[in-house]
Amino acid sequence: MTYIVRFFIGKGGVGKTTVAATYALKQAGKGRRTYVISLDPAHNLGDVFDMELGDKPRKITDNLWGIEVDYEAMIRKHLKNLTEKIKDIYGYLKIFNLDKYVDVLQHSPGVEEQASLEKIIELTRILGEKGRADVIVYDTPPTGLMLRIMALPTISLIWIDKLLDLRLAILEKRRAIEKITGEEMKAVIAGRELKVPTSQEEDPIYKELLHLREEYTWINNLFTDHRRTRVALVINPETLPVLEAYRAYSFLERIGVLVSYIVVNKYLELEGPLPESLAGKKREQDEAMSKAKELFKGLEFYNIPYQPWEPRGLGELSKLIKYVEDME
Ligand SMILES: Nc1ncnc2c1ncn2[C@@H]1O[C@H](COP(=O)(O)OP(=O)(O)OP(=O)(O)O)[C@@H](O)[C@H]1O
Ligand SMILES: [Mg+2]
Repeated sequence: MTYIVRFFIGKGGVGKTTVAATYALKQAGKGRRTYVISLDPAHNLGDVFDMELGDKPRKITDNLWGIEVDYEAMIRKHLKNLTEKIKDIYGYLKIFNLDKYVDVLQHSPGVEEQASLEKIIELTRILGEKGRADVIVYDTPPTGLMLRIMALPTISLIWIDKLLDLRLAILEKRRAIEKITGEEMKAVIAGRELKVPTSQEEDPIYKELLHLREEYTWINNLFTDHRRTRVALVINPETLPVLEAYRAYSFLERIGVLVSYIVVNKYLELEGPLPESLAGKKREQDEAMSKAKELFKGLEFYNIPYQPWEPRGLGELSKLIKYVEDME
């Protein structure tokens, strides 16, 4: 399995989608089967390619397919799976109407992150692991949300290990009680007598925790596999996007995700004598660039000049390829 995964992350409006689309087009042009996927709830990948995209892969050109993840459907599916799992584990809960809680869960903190992570796992498995894609390019939601999604496996693994310990301790106590009473442990819940699990093999909660640990370990390994997965931070040559990108960079470094590229999009190529307004702009750009060079020492820089028009459609995007030609 030789596929690679790229995430394009940055502040709103810096050009994540445009750059992700250009990079994907470049890879496809090299004959690599490339999937470019928008995870942003406010999609504009289709707008950038100037064609309609949806939840199913749509062919954009040779070797290139695009997906705009249906966010609502993704969250609905996540909650449905969650409710079903709860019903399976706590069989007796079937008598309650759990579905009404879905409405509440939908607005709970963390649901978006969890559902997005599941979607990344699902798509990467289908496209990458099954051998359909050589390159998977993710156009991401705003920085804060994306960082929370990428940190979720690390945080969840800490919790899962604690919960596994706790569960083992509970099972051990139950076995001790069985030994003392000399009978199988039973509980009466909602008028029904149920056998209480006392071993790891028969405990659905223990098994579910193990399953979750496997899933999160897999995705965490993918996020932190430096040969396979890389992040490109997209910025504009202005101080605020540079500072935000630096915070993202430091955070990603702490969770082991490799940032390889800084793409300076909308770079102003200003030469010769300039009117005062543009001279000021150039000073601002020079300052932001030297700040970026200092903060992101050792990373590869790619400058994409400010175009006189919005780069939309295959023809216009192709013209930008030369600026990201060497981006692996
Ligand atoms: N190099 C460029 N030159 C001129 N215009 C550009 C360039 N790159 C992007 N744009 C324009 O800037 C706007 C924002 O770009 P884009 O949608 O790619 O950014 P984004 O970071 O994905 O935004 P969002 O956070 O809203 O998803 C668009 O109108 C796009 O056409
Ligand atoms: Mg976008």
